[in-house]
Amino acid sequence: MILNLKLIHKGKVKDVYEEDENTYLFHFSDRISAFDVEMPTMIPMKGKILCQFAKFWFDKLDIENHMIATRDQDKMIVKKLKMIPLEFIVRGYFYGSLIERFARAPDYYPSLRKFEPILASRLPEPLFDPTTKSNTHDISISEDQIVDRGLLSLDKLAYIKETSINLYRQMSTIVGRAGFIIADTKFEFGHDVSGNLILLADSLGPDEFRLWRKSEYIPGKVQESYDKQILRDWLISTGFKVIVDEVSSKGLKPVAPNIPSEIISRLSSRYIFAYEQISNTRFESVS
Ligand SMILES: Nc1ncnc2c1ncn2[C@@H]1O[C@H](COP(=O)(O)OP(=O)(O)OP(=O)(O)O)[C@@H](O)[C@H]1O
Ligand SMILES: [Mg+2]
Repeated sequence: MILNLKLIHKGKVKDVYEEDENTYLFHFSDRISAFDVEMPTMIPMKGKILCQFAKFWFDKLDIENHMIATRDQDKMIVKKLKMIPLEFIVRGYFYGSLIERFARAPDYYPSLRKFEPILASRLPEPLFDPTTKSNTHDISISEDQIVDRGLLSLDKLAYIKETSINLYRQMSTIVGRAGFIIADTKFEFGHDVSGNLILLADSLGPDEFRLWRKSEYIPGKVQESYDKQILRDWLISTGFKVIVDEVSSKGLKPVAPNIPSEIISRLSSRYIFAYEQISNTRFESVS
């Protein structure tokens, strides 16, 4: 809750407030979700780390973006944009939802014609894989559909595709130096007030990308992902994942368990470790 500001949107992680007619204030919370279920327990420092991570990328990446300033480590002031209602995913590795989609329709991916589908293996080239934005389940959308549905002109789509792949490459190089792999990542873009300029928006951090450590990377296996894996593993060990699957199939929301303090502190340290390694700075929390 931020006094005097109007709450515009409460996402799973960020709270978006209207700062003035041209700007929003993003408050990165310590909330965490897994298997699309919000946990009742907060992860200390997570909001600050995610905000600092986003700031690091906006400063570092060679692209116009929406960031104006940060405040109190966990808040970011951004330019209000007219968002393009799509999520632009770039994948460098064969993982996640791509596996099932590739199995169902391999011809949909011309760049993977000669690709041997080994779990977690590197793709021959980064794959541009846009989805629609939805509160429940994001659905793949082809480049033709984006243009046919009038969501973007051919030119703008070409610009966003080239830019997204270029950003993915820049990010891969940066995390690579710190011993990490970005398996895939999501970008969002919006138009500025003039309607002519497209800016990189939303956020970039462990909630947007899948991070693996090079030293632990083994193709052919499920990878130890450097974000919420500890939480997911713990939830699986308690039997909660089975409950999620059962309850969700009936369209209901499961009641999430409290996370033990040992899991919380391991999660918190992981977020901090990844940020410190990649940004090559020390994280000092200021209260
Ligand atoms: N500069 C911007 N101007 C306007 N809207 C923005 C800007 N940057 C990001 N957004 C939008 O603000 C919202 C941020 O909310 P947030 O990401 O926390 O939740 P969400 O996307 O609704 O849900 P989820 O919890 O699944 O991410 C998103 O809808 C995003 O598209
Ligand atoms: Mg979001």
